[in-house]
Amino acid sequence: MSNQTTYIGKPVNRVDGYAKVTGDAKYAADHDAKGLCYGVIVSAGIAKGKILHIDTDAATQLEGVFKVFTHENVSGLAWFNRSYKDMDAPPGKHFRYLQTDIVTYSQQPVALVVAATFELARYAATLVRITYEADAHVTNLTGNLDQARPPKGKKTGFKKPANRGKFEKAFQAAPVKTTATYYHGAEHHNPMEMHASTVLYYKDGSITVYDKTQGVLNTQSYIKSVFGLSGKKVRTFAPFVGGAFGSGLRPQYQLFMAVLAALELKRSVKVMMTRQQMFSFGFRPITQQTLAIGAMEDGSLEAISHSAVSGTSRFEDYVENIVNWSGSLYHCRNVKQSYELVSMDTFTPLDMRAPGAVTGMFGLECAMDELSYQLNIDPLELRRINYSVEDGSMKKPYSSKALMDCYEQAAAAFGWSERSPQPRSMKNGHLLTGWGMATGMWDANTVPARAKAVFTADGRLTVGSATADIGTGTYTIMTQIAAETLGLPLDQVTFQLGDASLPFAYLEGGSTTAASVGTAVQQACVQIRERLFSLAKDIPDSPFRELTIEQVSFEDGKLFMTETPANFIHLKDIMTLTDTNEVKVTSTPLPNIFKQMKYAKNTHAAVFAEVQVDEELGVVKVTRVVSAVAAGRILNPKTARSQIMGGIVWGISGALYEESVLDHQFGRFINHNYAEYHIPVNLDIHNIEVIFVEEKDDVVNPMGIKGVGEIGQVGVAAAIANAIYHATGKRIRELPITLDKLL
Ligand code: MOS
Repeated sequence: MSNQTTYIGKPVNRVDGYAKVTGDAKYAADHDAKGLCYGVIVSAGIAKGKILHIDTDAATQLEGVFKVFTHENVSGLAWFNRSYKDMDAPPGKHFRYLQTDIVTYSQQPVALVVAATFELARYAATLVRITYEADAHVTNLTGNLDQARPPKGKKTGFKKPANRGKFEKAFQAAPVKTTATYYHGAEHHNPMEMHASTVLYYKDGSITVYDKTQGVLNTQSYIKSVFGLSGKKVRTFAPFVGGAFGSGLRPQYQLFMAVLAALELKRSVKVMMTRQQMFSFGFRPITQQTLAIGAMEDGSLEAISHSAVSGTSRFEDYVENIVNWSGSLYHCRNVKQSYELVSMDTFTPLDMRAPGAVTGMFGLECAMDELSYQLNIDPLELRRINYSVEDGSMKKPYSSKALMDCYEQAAAAFGWSERSPQPRSMKNGHLLTGWGMATGMWDANTVPARAKAVFTADGRLTVGSATADIGTGTYTIMTQIAAETLGLPLDQVTFQLGDASLPFAYLEGGSTTAASVGTAVQQACVQIRERLFSLAKDIPDSPFRELTIEQVSFEDGKLFMTETPANFIHLKDIMTLTDTNEVKVTSTPLPNIFKQMKYAKNTHAAVFAEVQVDEELGVVKVTRVVSAVAAGRILNPKTARSQIMGGIVWGISGALYEESVLDHQFGRFINHNYAEYHIPVNLDIHNIEVIFVEEKDDVVNPMGIKGVGEIGQVGVAAAIANAIYHATGKRIRELPITLDKLL
């Protein structure tokens, strides 16, 4: 691709923006149907035990209530004799809803009330009476660390902790050492749109499902495997998703409930979780981690040990890459890592934006800050001293790594050189100012994706792939790539997604979509170009007959002779003159794995934060964040900047506000609502500056795209915790840093 671009790299407005602000965009729960009925879920009131009796009579007797589904009347499903399918399922025995009287976690769905109206279903649900026999439960990670054990089985993308060198010996010998333990509790997914599924039932027994998901193909294969339906009977759609940061990677239980009810009642059914029920499935796992770092007096790292213990459920082993970053980011010969799990009586944790990295880099980057004070070396300088051009765990160079430029540009924009190193030295009355920094790191992976492209005689291009747009801007960047490649105006291009009948795309997760689907879209459009060029040659007396594709260019809806641009033909005219209605292709890009194998592929960020702490009240204000991000080629600086800003806001949230608090007496997340589950509001967010340091990278994919969905959050909580230490002299190692911890 040439450096001169029309759309790629430009701050194009969202092509779906109009539909979203006018309400034309329909989300999973917005769909309606004749005779649609509503399901409301009843959640268990204990964390562990047995249902002795479930009395549904009062609910069932109400006119307009069609059925109350419980474990007593839901028969065995296809699930029992077929393989269960869920692309993001961790290893284990996946939980089967409404199949048992055993309660395995608090808020486990134990009944579904289906009625003619939502209000009636909700009222009837309050009439379901359940008596339990409770067993003793375990929900306290730190009280049960003696139960920690290695994870069982494998999950896609999970990297085994890796040791190298001789940590113990090197740590012993190191003249400067720091050891610290960090902790954070659970965080629950709270996108604006709650999880919902609308299932339209047809007389032939087929269903159309609108689901909140990050992958319509995952939704479809899950339904097929659980209910024993053929693919033809199940159409799944998710054209719009109101935010999803991992919560839509796995099918959530409202989907199971809605499909079950629709198939049993032979009616169309809608089920939406309540905000409280959003706290009844996966979450960022509770984690305790310990870092031990040994360094020479000059700051060079001699030994790093990173060990983490996270909670998981009794039935699945959720795993994420928490400790691995410590073996990759800095130059160090002696590294020891361990990662263990404790089974508890909760639901299984779930991927949440930059899973593992948000947690592990919080530990690593706070520990590096602690070390910097012991060494009396500027925290930024310490990172520079230990900069690594290769991934020490993989022993491979990076395909590109502009982190040094990120440090420089962000530090300059922030004014880091003005920092006075001593904690509490930037004091003004009872207001303490602190400056802190941290590094961010995430993966730049690609996953399988295909795309189809259809160019029609009216001059329009329609491109599609069964991917998702969870608010990130997929519609927009794919439209940009397609328009750029075929040289069409943006408004002549339509991109389709969120429909399982489109060509395969993996889940929209892991910051892989721009790179993976983007490559497929580009390739499909290159194929369309070739087909149009060959059609142009077929036109009688065609002057293009003598040329090769390298000698022509596609711009402005026209095919040009590059050398003599006065000679051109409209793409539409090629279609008319060759009597062609449509040109249609499907692309299946195959990454150059042997080339890729030689490199480590990552994105990086340098995050600088300024806090103001009121010493008398303990209130923390994050007054400034500057983040410089190196993530390959930026397709759209406007949507990319929004991704990074969102990540920074979530980083502030994780640092200061957000935690699902477990009441161990009840084994329940007690603040399961927006009043008590704190997230920042506009008043809490001040200056945020995002800098993109572009990287040229021809290893990751032909366009050099690395993905920006997750890198923005990584390192932010550490930068803030480090700034709070600089402001107050208090090292808080437990998130969120609430004011009580500072008083
Ligand atoms: Mo994100 S946790 O990759 O959906």
